Amino acid sequence: MLSIVLLGTGNVAQQLFDALYVLPDVTVAQVYGRNAKGLDYFEERCPVTTNSDGIGTADLYIIAVSDKAIPQVSQLLKGKKGLVAHTSGSAPMNAIHAPKKAVFYPLQTFTKGRTVNFKEIPICLEVAQKEDASILEALALKLSNNVTWITSAQRKKLHVSAVIVNNFANHCYQMAAEICEAEQLPFDLLQPLIQETATKILHVSPKEAQTGPARRNDVLTQQEHLELLKNPLHKKLYQLLSESIRQQYEEKL
Ligand SMILES: NC(=O)c1ccc[n+]([C@@H]2O[C@H](COP(=O)([O-])OP(=O)(O)OC[C@H]3O[C@@H](n4cnc5c(N)ncnc54)[C@H](OP(=O)(O)O)[C@@H]3O)[C@@H](O)[C@H]2O)c1
Repeated sequence: MLSIVLLGTGNVAQQLFDALYVLPDVTVAQVYGRNAKGLDYFEERCPVTTNSDGIGTADLYIIAVSDKAIPQVSQLLKGKKGLVAHTSGSAPMNAIHAPKKAVFYPLQTFTKGRTVNFKEIPICLEVAQKEDASILEALALKLSNNVTWITSAQRKKLHVSAVIVNNFANHCYQMAAEICEAEQLPFDLLQPLIQETATKILHVSPKEAQTGPARRNDVLTQQEHLELLKNPLHKKLYQLLSESIRQQYEEKL
């Protein structure tokens, strides 16, 4: 039986807890959170504590707190013998102040209340000491069919890519939603397009999949669009993204 203490009560902690809770041969022995309210989600299924002196012993401590709090929270585990892993895409493994350190980065967007299928989520691992690799990999393989070993430097680059495809794409949805709302057009009209954009790149490369006025270097349409955009930041983003697309296809124009 692998015992785990989870530190943090946010988006990742909740989703990870739900996935770990049902695993055979794994027990979530405790959840630590700095405020009692955050622990409500866990307390019916598992012992919880807000007292850092009351953190119990475990084989593995998973720190799922804000990136900047990782060093501080890892120091609460001073003297513990278990392996200490964080879940961040961008924090280096060395953000953890413990001799037995690791990274357990699930590459997905997590939001409280949204259930995700961990089997499909890539889990990116790293350990400081080789002898800790097997315990971490065994756990990751129980959760997911997609487990990979990468370094902190590689993970940082993967995280930039993740921010671009998720955060930036989502921000574009937000911009489009604002434009639709201003014209009383339902954002839902764009849903099939959003779906197909995501599905298409399962079959063709992003470069092949691109369409639209910037790829075609249709300057007139781009100018009309720029006149319609009221928000100066949206205008700037439209120009920058269009220029980036245009340059990508320049040689073929
Ligand atoms: N969300 C994602 O999509 C995602 C995906 C992959 C990896 N990650 C990584 O997973 C980690 C957690 O992200 P998240 O989205 O779950 O964050 P979150 O929802 O914002 O939750 C952050 C948690 O950290 C706690 N915390 C912050 N500062 C603390 C401190 N000084 N001491 C103790 N606890 C502290 C917060 O407690 P309070 O509630 O008291 O503020 C909260 O429980 C981050 O490293 C993030 O990069 C996130």
